[in-house]
Amino acid sequence: MNIAILSRGESLYSTQSLFKAGEARNHDMEVLDTSMFTLSIENNVPALYYGDEIVDDIDAIIPRIGASNTYMGSSLVRHFEAMDVFTPVTAEAILQSRNKWTSFQILSMKKIPVPRTILGNVYDAKSTLKAFNNNPVIIKVLQGTHGAGVILAETYQSAISTIETLNTSNVRFVIQEYIAESKGADIRAIVVDGVIVAAMKRQSKEGEFRSNLHLGGSSEAVQLSPEESKIALGAAKTLKLGVCGVDILQSKRGPLILEVNSTPGLEGVETTTGIDISRSIIGYIERNKR
Ligand SMILES: Nc1ncnc2c1ncn2[C@@H]1O[C@H](COP(=O)(O)OP(=O)(O)OP(=O)(O)O)[C@@H](O)[C@H]1O
Ligand SMILES: [Mg+2]
Repeated sequence: MNIAILSRGESLYSTQSLFKAGEARNHDMEVLDTSMFTLSIENNVPALYYGDEIVDDIDAIIPRIGASNTYMGSSLVRHFEAMDVFTPVTAEAILQSRNKWTSFQILSMKKIPVPRTILGNVYDAKSTLKAFNNNPVIIKVLQGTHGAGVILAETYQSAISTIETLNTSNVRFVIQEYIAESKGADIRAIVVDGVIVAAMKRQSKEGEFRSNLHLGGSSEAVQLSPEESKIALGAAKTLKLGVCGVDILQSKRGPLILEVNSTPGLEGVETTTGIDISRSIIGYIERNKR
């Protein structure tokens, strides 16, 4: 098969890992830079160019769409879908999962547990904070990534001033219950084609509440509990993601979905667990070839 990895970073670990996994299965792999495409609609059908060459011989794509490239990246994925090219994650699924509020709304339709969350543009910040019993809250900007844009407001005063600052700067955000009992740890599960293929627990470094590996967190392989597996698979299915990373917080009232990532980084989880996730993704594509 001709499989194209859509990525702006040819040398990135995840891109390389997927490339090698595809080559090992004798596929013709290529990395195509999302910024080099021209999307067009001609004679009422979609046409696609890479540089000045027409693209019409690709059987499947693996989108690796970064947060800074969501609009063009998802538009490109939709173009491939219109051309009947298989993709493990659709444009719609990328867009829905990327937004930390939209994804929670959709998960709530299937009663998948998430932390109590309120969309930021609140009519009355003071009474909104009362809903959290004046406990510390997490304030998250909706476009954040790698832990940047996640604020722990420990006091009522800092929560109010943060909300006012974000409101006057026209930044979209959510206010979220702080799950203190998870003690800076969360679980990242990778789901491929309705199966949990790998999972790790991430622990934040001393003095930090965010567990992101980019922020110095550490990680170890874990086995999910039945309840954690159920909500991780439920989240992937509800958001219609054939491949995703599901982040789970362990709270007093059971596991909660924190976010679902349509372009999960593979380096941390492959090196922590020793599992070849890229191989699973290629296998999924093989089962769905056109
Ligand atoms: N409600 C919460 N309670 C406790 N800890 C939280 C909460 N929300 C976030 N955290 C911690 O902060 C980290 C970063 O938050 P989150 O995953 O929502 O944003 P992000 O990492 O910036 O987004 P992305 O994963 O898309 O890059 C989480 O991994 C978790 O450790
Ligand atoms: Mg995160």
